[in-house]
Amino acid sequence: MTSPRTNPGPAAVVFGLGAALPPCSVSNAQLCRELDTSDEWIRTRTGIRERRIADPGVSTADLAAAAADQALQSCGSSDVQALVLATTTPDHLMPATAPTVAARLGLTGIAAFDVAAVCTGFVYALATAAGLIASGTAQQVLVIGADRMASLPAPDDRTTRPLFADGAGAVVLRSGDDSEAGALGPVVLGSDGTHRDLLLVPHGGHMQMQGPQLFRHAVTRMCAATRQAVQLAGWHIADVDRVVPHQANSRITDAVGRHLAIGTDRRVQTIAHTGNTGAASIPLALAQAAADGTVLPGHRLCLTAFGAGLTWGATTLIWPDLKPAPSPLHDTAKELS
Ligand code: ACO
Repeated sequence: MTSPRTNPGPAAVVFGLGAALPPCSVSNAQLCRELDTSDEWIRTRTGIRERRIADPGVSTADLAAAAADQALQSCGSSDVQALVLATTTPDHLMPATAPTVAARLGLTGIAAFDVAAVCTGFVYALATAAGLIASGTAQQVLVIGADRMASLPAPDDRTTRPLFADGAGAVVLRSGDDSEAGALGPVVLGSDGTHRDLLLVPHGGHMQMQGPQLFRHAVTRMCAATRQAVQLAGWHIADVDRVVPHQANSRITDAVGRHLAIGTDRRVQTIAHTGNTGAASIPLALAQAAADGTVLPGHRLCLTAFGAGLTWGATTLIWPDLKPAPSPLHDTAKELS
């Protein structure tokens, strides 16, 4: 695992936030018409009630650009020098999707590249962006998590299709000081490729998942990453006002909460209405929590993620006083229909 800010340049400070969900909600009841499953099974095993699915013509770049546009509007500045897009579902095998998103935002000319760390992608992208700021390569960076995870399972696979969904979330980071609200704390990152077969999409194929094993790794790794990030920030677990976990399964979040003694009132949980949106899940959950008052300025947050690879990561920040953004669950991006 890595790595505390031992020799830091400027801190990376969150000062913009946005999210976008496709308007089409698919309920468990609708899925039951196509799969041998039940609303009760999906709700009790995963916590998911509905998920947003993009229409076939909607790309990852469309979702990413909508979320990024909102993030840029929320901070009132589009003077960014780099765009880092975390995604598992790029629009093409090559080129990366980030330059397309930058061009769509009128940011042609800036550095733009994708990061692939599946559901930990957003935390990896935050760390990458913080490095660009610390080194002086950029003063403001757009960090986006966007995925069309619902495109990966086989249409008849009841073990994966109910879980995965589409969406995007974004933050704008600016160069600042460690003492400011919004400054990212040390970032913990890790991987273990020996377990790559637990969640895999082979070339030209559909998603294959070994759910129960993945579940156990997710709980272990998210607990350890959370503990380490909190310790590196100089906090105790009891100091964390809200943990914002990757939304893979509400039972995973519950187990992490139980192990760390973080009660339900201190866990951000949006999966019931979003499903697992991959790299989008943490910024989407943040945007929803900031909009509905679950996350407030001054709250000490820990963002913690786990994904295929295996990969995991966590970081901390004190939530800044941002311009309120609309709830992604209620303000659907109409242009994505
Ligand atoms: N409806 C009804 N029955 C089902 C369904 C379904 N949709 N899916 C599986 N079943 C059946 C299985 O066939 C099995 O039947 P059997 O006992 O006759 O063999 C039974 O339900 C139990 O299956 P399990 O896989 O053991 O169920 P479990 O309680 O482990 O829940 C789940 C499965 C929800 C996938 C869980 O293991 C999980 O969430 N794992 C983690 C998944 C995850 O986190 N993925 C992403 C992480 S990484 C990232 O986000 C990219």
